[in-house]
Amino acid sequence: MSEGGNQIALLPGDGIGPEIAAAAKRVLEALGDFEISEHLIGGASIDEHGTALTDEVLEACRQSDAVLLCAVGGPKWDTTDPDKPRPEQGLLGLRKGLGLFANLRPVRPSEALLEASPLRHERIEGTDLLVVRELTGGIYFGDSGRDGDRAHDDCAYTVEEIERIARVGFEAAGERGGKLTSVDKANVLETSRLWRETVTRLAPEYGEIALDHLLVDNAAMQLVSRPTDFDVIVTENLFGDILSDEAAMLTGSLGMLPSASLGESGPGLYEPVHGSAPDIAGTGRANPLATLLSVAMMLKYGFGMHEEAKRLEKAVDAALAQGLRTPDLTGGADIREVGTEEMTDAVLQSL
Ligand code: IPM
Ligand code: MG
Repeated sequence: MSEGGNQIALLPGDGIGPEIAAAAKRVLEALGDFEISEHLIGGASIDEHGTALTDEVLEACRQSDAVLLCAVGGPKWDTTDPDKPRPEQGLLGLRKGLGLFANLRPVRPSEALLEASPLRHERIEGTDLLVVRELTGGIYFGDSGRDGDRAHDDCAYTVEEIERIARVGFEAAGERGGKLTSVDKANVLETSRLWRETVTRLAPEYGEIALDHLLVDNAAMQLVSRPTDFDVIVTENLFGDILSDEAAMLTGSLGMLPSASLGESGPGLYEPVHGSAPDIAGTGRANPLATLLSVAMMLKYGFGMHEEAKRLEKAVDAALAQGLRTPDLTGGADIREVGTEEMTDAVLQSL
């Protein structure tokens, strides 16, 4: 992370990506003096270069102070052929190439959207949790392949990989509610037993943090039955992928969830948790708020602009409080359906 710099690599990507990238640009221009360079990633890059992430784009991201990625993927590039390029490889290549091992996904339902969740209002009210997902190890990056009618994906973790993400979890808990829940599948998986052992061994260094362990199936259940009890959840790559989508529904829409992916040094990657929504691409109806909240995370973690980050978060809440809703959102009295641009106008006005 480079406080003082002002260079942002913007990767609009596919589907609704370019539309929400435009919203992010308008907000960034209002908030500071940033130098924004745009690059292809995902399907857009496959069409142009035959690969989801070129060396040039990876290098441009490395040279920047922060990377904002909007969305990758779409039916056009869906394939099960192991020899064909896939848009997601762009994202995975960036995570690995920039060493972004810590993925932070905060979940805090906006007051105005409490009715939008499929869960009852009183159950989710007060939810404020952070999923800390390990992002460069595990089954996502293990050896994989096909051999005739057999396929395999290996899952491996080293003590070092577990320690560094566990420390992010402990430290985040220290800055928040002081509670850390480590999620694994230690009753079945060897990697999970190493995970649990390692997290437990570090715990005495963080004496003020209350640590507990949950098996992932149980965690999936507890997350919807008592979401307000969670503070920080730390978990491995695949479990974090699944649990963060589940946690997103507490906010009523996947369209609301931002994320930051950070390494030891170098630029962080900021992106909405949702995908490229190809079904509504080009219609001007995409929800820009998860991207704008990702911009807020970028201001905070990437540029140390804490005050501006808070203002942007408040402006998003204010737009929702006025009753404005993109079509993916429902809930509340006196609501009015708007598109990407009008929602962005409202956020800019509150800013
Ligand atoms: C996410 C996404 C990605 C993942 C996909 C697009 C590769 O689901 O960021 O959660 O699985 O990590
Ligand atoms: Mg996911």
